[in-house]
Formats: sequence, C-alpha cells, structure tokens
Amino acid sequence: MIFAANFKTNHTRKSTELYIRELNEKLGTKNPEDKIYIFPPSTALNAYEGDFTVGVQNAYATQNGAYTGEIGLEQLDEFGIKTILIGHSERREHMGESQEKVATKFTFFREQGFEIIYCIGEPLYIREKGFEAVMQYLLAQFDGIDIMYENIIIAYEPIWAIGTGRSATVEEISTTHRALKKAINDKPLLYGGSAKPANIKEITSIAGVDGVLVGSASLDAESFSEMILS
Ligand code: 13P
Repeated sequence: MIFAANFKTNHTRKSTELYIRELNEKLGTKNPEDKIYIFPPSTALNAYEGDFTVGVQNAYATQNGAYTGEIGLEQLDEFGIKTILIGHSERREHMGESQEKVATKFTFFREQGFEIIYCIGEPLYIREKGFEAVMQYLLAQFDGIDIMYENIIIAYEPIWAIGTGRSATVEEISTTHRALKKAINDKPLLYGGSAKPANIKEITSIAGVDGVLVGSASLDAESFSEMILS
C-alpha cells in the first residue's frame, strides 16, 4: 500500500523535523512493501533520512527565473526532490489552476522524470448528478495528461470528502475506482478524503485502492503511523 501525507499549509521546518523523527521511530515495524510519501510545505523541504520519500506539494514549471513567489527545479534539486503533487483540487480552486495549466505543469515535470501524484476529484454538485456525470468530470481532468507515464500515481479525492471528516462510502470508492482503473490502464490509484485511523482498514481493503493520500489525519505522526501500521 501507498501512504502519502499531504501537510498542506501546516507544519514548520522545526515541527517537520520532529515529525520525521517520531515517524522513523514508529515505523521500524512497517511492512517493507508499504511505501510512504511526505509532502511538507516548501519551507520545510530538506534532505530528511528514513524509509519514505519526500515530495513537494507544488512547484512552477521552470528551472528558475522571474516567477515571484514560486519555486522551480533549482530549489528542488538542492534537496534532491523528485516527487510532486499536481492537480490538487485546492490548487485548482483557490489558485485558479485550469486544466490547461495543470497539464503544462504535468508535462514539464514528466519531462524531468519526476514521480507525479496526479490528483483528480469532483465537487458535490457533480456527485449529486449521478455516476455518469462523476466519471465525465473526472475523465476531463485527464485532458492533456499522459496517463501512460511510467512514474504516475493517480489520487482520486472527491472534493466533498476533503477535510470534512466524511469519507466517501465504500460503495462510492469502489465503483469510482473500478471505473478509473480501466481508464488509467491499472496505474496505481490512491483514495483521498477524510481517510483516518478509524476508516483506513475499510478503505485499503477495497479492490482498486492502492493506497491513500491523507491530509488532516497525517498531520500528527502518531495518527499517520497508526494508519500505516494498522
Ligand atoms: P483530508 O484527509 O484532510 O480530508 O485531506 C485530503 C487531501 O486533500 C489530501 O490531499
């Protein structure tokens, strides 16, 4: 299974260091086949050591240059970062990242050989229209995206389940993942949206779920390691 922690705009360099120390202590007994990713805020990127991969939550599609407020390859290289989240619904919504911009970023980082966790997800009004509308919406988020890329992991995160405490149901995850798996030629597919210690077993037992992308419940090393070890 894949367990990915997306800190979003939480944690500092100092608290991330403490977090990683605690995680390393707790994960001594983890299943060697499980793969862990941590996405701290950019200010907390560092060359951390442990049985996990550190990635960046966002970066600009450039080596360097005049892009005020952004970071590019030069800044990622300093810490050996080769993994990135692209297409998260919060960036699409709050930072106005269009599908075209998301696709441009994807292509750039694909060409750089990055491992890309590519996020898709539908808002509540689409879910309420029914499954066909959901799939149409999700598949449109593959526009301009090379889903055959060898280093892609896809994360399905229904927007209405993010940060709400209310995960999608087993039935909703199961039917959506089954349909998505066909569309993405069986690439690794994560679920995200209120995954936590209390529901992790249920979620990871669903066919077509290869892991989870976790926000809130990943912020505490104890809770995240409980999910990994359960
Ligand atoms: P929550 O786990 O807080 O619902 O967030 C999910 C998410 O957006 C991870 O990228």
